Amino acid sequence: MTEANMNNSKVRKIEEVLVAQSASDGDGVRLKRVFGGGNLARFDPFLMLDEFGSNDPGDYIGGFPSHPHRGFETVTYMLEGHMEHRDHMGNVGQLMAGDVQWMKAGAGVIHSEMPKQEEGRMRGFQLWVNLPAREKMTPASYTELAAASIPRYEIDGIHVKAIAGELRVNDHAVTGAISGLATEPGYLDITVNPADQLSKELSKEFSVGVPEGHTALIYVYEGELRIGTDAYQIKAGSLARLSLTGDLVIQAGAKTRLLIITGKPIGEPIVQRGPFVMNTAEEIHQAIRDYTEGKLVAA
Ligand code: FE2
Repeated sequence: MTEANMNNSKVRKIEEVLVAQSASDGDGVRLKRVFGGGNLARFDPFLMLDEFGSNDPGDYIGGFPSHPHRGFETVTYMLEGHMEHRDHMGNVGQLMAGDVQWMKAGAGVIHSEMPKQEEGRMRGFQLWVNLPAREKMTPASYTELAAASIPRYEIDGIHVKAIAGELRVNDHAVTGAISGLATEPGYLDITVNPADQLSKELSKEFSVGVPEGHTALIYVYEGELRIGTDAYQIKAGSLARLSLTGDLVIQAGAKTRLLIITGKPIGEPIVQRGPFVMNTAEEIHQAIRDYTEGKLVAA
């Protein structure tokens, strides 16, 4: 890090580091919950991040049978394996390695996400992105992004896959496949190039420009890194939540892989009950009534 950067107050600082916790969801799928479940305002507009990854079919074969959502968006990013999505709108999606599915539950979705393999590795992430009140009861929609359609960039020895948003990496504009959403999400998958043959020291430095005031999260899933001027080493399976002002400055080791997730906070009350995320308890009760009475989704 240069002297100028070290002294730069516009470098974001670590607010907290969370270690992903073992959890089970769907029909017994073993996964790592990075965050989610409570005290969510600090992640606004994000509600949850899960990492799933296993070579053991027993950990994933149950999948996620038919279940509802209302009030937010789910983003599934596959690294390895094959999942099949089906929903009440009649969409059938094959999610393969590198593909992304961006689904707006809006007023209601009923869908399943089931493995289409009986052996081998299954690996990926699911992120939940909140919707502002004005969009919570809008019609559901579903977007599939094949791996080949997601922009990739090689910038100063790092590989960037840009799933969403408009960010800057080492001052190069990076434009993701998804844009135009109220929460302006940025979602990058970054791999530090192994060809750099870096030593164990975390010597590959790069910066990511994020809009002022936007939430910024860094999830390390392979290798390790440091952030800003903090000496703390963040290892695979940990998430750092950053302060709201300035750029991200990251020093990573070779082969380190990380997600950068950014978004514009909504600033509204968050009331969650399982797969329903609304603004008030009454809206949650309504969602449960609608689901029980078969009215969650349009016939
Ligand atoms: Fe789901």
